[in-house]
Amino acid sequence: MAAITFPNKFIWGAATAAYQIEGAWEADGKGESIWDRFSHTPGKVFNNDNGDVACDHYHRWRDDIALMRELGLQAYRFSIAWPRILPEGTGTVNQAGLDFYDRLVDGLLEAGITPFATLYHWDLPQVLQDEGGWANRASVAAFTNYADIVSRRLGDRVKNWITHNEPWCTSFLGNHLGVHAPGLLEGPSLAVAHHVLMSHGAAVPVLRANSAGADVGITLNFAPAYPASDSAEDQAAAQRHDGFFNRWFLDPLYGRGYPEDMLALYGPMLPDIHADDLATIAVPTDFLGVNYYNRAVIKDDPTALPLRTGFVLPEGEYTAMNWEVYPDALRALLVRIARDYTPSKLYITENGAAYDDTLSPDGAIHDEQRTRYLASHLAAVHAAIGEGAPLAGYFAWSLMDNFEWAEGYNKRFGIVHVDYETQQRTPKDSARFFSAAIERNGLE
Ligand code: FCB
Repeated sequence: MAAITFPNKFIWGAATAAYQIEGAWEADGKGESIWDRFSHTPGKVFNNDNGDVACDHYHRWRDDIALMRELGLQAYRFSIAWPRILPEGTGTVNQAGLDFYDRLVDGLLEAGITPFATLYHWDLPQVLQDEGGWANRASVAAFTNYADIVSRRLGDRVKNWITHNEPWCTSFLGNHLGVHAPGLLEGPSLAVAHHVLMSHGAAVPVLRANSAGADVGITLNFAPAYPASDSAEDQAAAQRHDGFFNRWFLDPLYGRGYPEDMLALYGPMLPDIHADDLATIAVPTDFLGVNYYNRAVIKDDPTALPLRTGFVLPEGEYTAMNWEVYPDALRALLVRIARDYTPSKLYITENGAAYDDTLSPDGAIHDEQRTRYLASHLAAVHAAIGEGAPLAGYFAWSLMDNFEWAEGYNKRFGIVHVDYETQQRTPKDSARFFSAAIERNGLE
């Protein structure tokens, strides 16, 4: 691979999420989240793992900042646990919860690391779920209030805000496929999606008011859809998958309303959409966060209602998640988003891979496949920049191995290895590779 250099001021970071690393699930007044409830329900998570302790980051955050510094990270994307701040979802504020993030932010800034805070990375207060969760329109006001409280406290120092992480997952993994909390099968996923998007739109002006000069955006996950064959049926199926996964979120956020083809397809399943809702959702933002792991190869499947789509697994290289390694789809995705939606700035807010790492006798983790995954995807990002996509930074998923949702601790995405018995952190070879890339602002 030829040497490549990223633009000046390109930001290099790593990402995590509260429930996946913090542990301390009932410390200092924290309330129960839907992920606490879900993972404590037998049979929901691989091996019945849960996030009670996770990486114990709640107690080890100082060491973790030191580790980030050692790796040369310029930015750190983390999420805030809503139930630490508002154990009842609304109402009484738990100061101890705010204090934790206050100290974390100060620690990051002292280390010269720019904080990127995500407000919602899936850990809804359980009490709100008991009132219908995101399917309840009242969740919009509850989220806006939470965003207000957090940004009043941190907004003088946090200048990069992400409202939501991956609304598609909140909506469909949690409320349709049942594999994530709250675990609903064929639940009110479209109402959830609508209220999540509205809560984003409603929170943006609040974040701006409380955090002068801040950049505010949202993170979506994308599955670029490729037809399994040249047939008209498969091509139309790939279009539908694109509508379901990508356009359903992108279009309203960028002022186009919900896509017509999908409105027609969903028909009677559509939620209650009020007159001003789409204007709320389409509030201008400063950046779009892009999470990318793999593409989707789609065939027509008349039996799979209502989308009539099916997945095909083409021959190729796969990660331990059984996700295909296909970096060119990231390049094409970024170019397409830049062309069709003209966001002023894009960040890769997550990209990375799970592999079954082995500890070598010398104590090192020679994770050559993960290193290759990062290198090839960074090259794809660089190529997209060359084609005009306004990329401002890249966050590796993840800083360290952590609780991988329904997969528990069985899947390791970290560039740093975590021994869950001792909580020892060991940078893998991929972390060394990433540090070197940061140092030279590019690849050799
Ligand atoms: C994304 C999530 C993140 C992590 C990766 C592997 O969907 O945002 O928390 O689990 O997948």
